[in-house]
Amino acid sequence: MYTGFEENAGSFADYQEHQQINSNSKVMKHASRVNRTISQGSAGWAVHARANDMMASGEDVILLTIGDPDFETPAPIVETAVSSLLSGRTHYTPLLGEKKLRQAIADYQGRLYGDSALTADNVIVVIGAQCGLYVSAMCTLEQGDEVIVLDPTYSTYAYVLGASGAKSVFVPLRPERNFQVDPKDVAAAITDRTRAIFLNTPHNPTGAVVHREEMESLAALCLEHDLWMITDEVYGALTYEQAHICAASLPNMADRTLTISSLSKSHAMPGFRLGWVTGPAETINLMGNLCAGMLFGVSPFVQDAALEALTGSLGEIEKMRIAYRARRDLVHECLQDTPGISCQLPEGGLYMMIDIRETGIDAMSFADQLLDMEKVALLPGEAFGPGGKGHLRLSLVEPAEILAEACRRISRFAARAHQQSVAG
Ligand SMILES: Cc1ncc(COP(=O)(O)O)c(C=O)c1O
Repeated sequence: MYTGFEENAGSFADYQEHQQINSNSKVMKHASRVNRTISQGSAGWAVHARANDMMASGEDVILLTIGDPDFETPAPIVETAVSSLLSGRTHYTPLLGEKKLRQAIADYQGRLYGDSALTADNVIVVIGAQCGLYVSAMCTLEQGDEVIVLDPTYSTYAYVLGASGAKSVFVPLRPERNFQVDPKDVAAAITDRTRAIFLNTPHNPTGAVVHREEMESLAALCLEHDLWMITDEVYGALTYEQAHICAASLPNMADRTLTISSLSKSHAMPGFRLGWVTGPAETINLMGNLCAGMLFGVSPFVQDAALEALTGSLGEIEKMRIAYRARRDLVHECLQDTPGISCQLPEGGLYMMIDIRETGIDAMSFADQLLDMEKVALLPGEAFGPGGKGHLRLSLVEPAEILAEACRRISRFAARAHQQSVAG
């Protein structure tokens, strides 16, 4: 079944099959919007689908393609959801979210990122960060607007921005800057049609974290050119050295910044589909209009579980962050002496980019052959746009011993490829 891309990815082949079925039946006219939402990088996801097929037929594949945390959702959160259901919390909820949860989100963001001027009025609760991205784009962007997007970029932005009608203007993240955004590149991409900067920090797929100095420069550009800053901070709680800088906390930015986040990654709760957007109260109310036509509120038992996640004292959350950091260090250590590949330490998030340019193989072929010969599934960087070329994304969502074994297999394959490339 075709289910879309990224962390709940269905296969590209499924997608094509779905198109085929449609083309054999009577084709009704669809809105042009749906054709604008096809991701350019979708071919890169074929390896993920193939790995799943191999696993389904019993092969021992190490799947490091997607970013679904391997940790269980902490028990108190699950227990809260269950007891909430049993106590009859199965009815409609307020459109913008329950007041107590909205306040808890405002407090959490204030505590974590110094975004302390937030109140419940600045928060809307939605179905995961994904829905937050969609609502934010729909609320701020029009057909013909330009929006600055990083390349490589998280795959679903193509759907979100395509649906809005805005044109994505890509700004490269360069491997030689450890994929740090360069505000000079952003400045050069701004035109009189630019409406927003669409930022993601910590960044998927590269793990780059926007530092204070760069964030201040980007904020200055927003103020100078009267732009929205739309920041996807779904990995904001997962930084390893640098503090996470929330654009909204910088001077004069709160009025023009929409911050999108969720509990999917930080609290290992992707299946709860609980996310939010914070921003100016007036914008949040307008988003409520969009959500009235789309969500009509978020399940009460999920909101109760989210309240527990944000207000309970759950030691597991910090332990997960520490485990991801240790896994990142382990992969870096295991791969660093392998001929032909290199990787830099990402400063946040759940992924590492492995630079394979010196092996002489392109990333798509590397990913395919690695899967066939060593049974390790990584995503070619092109799945995230042309800026991912020459790289593979590895997800840190398996325990250390499995990651160590994956690294042994990757090293074996890369060393062989490098030797052949040098000899040939
Ligand atoms: C950068 C980024 N934004 C948003 C999302 C979607 O998160 P959620 O599960 O909260 O919808 C993901 C999921 O992988 C992501 O990587």
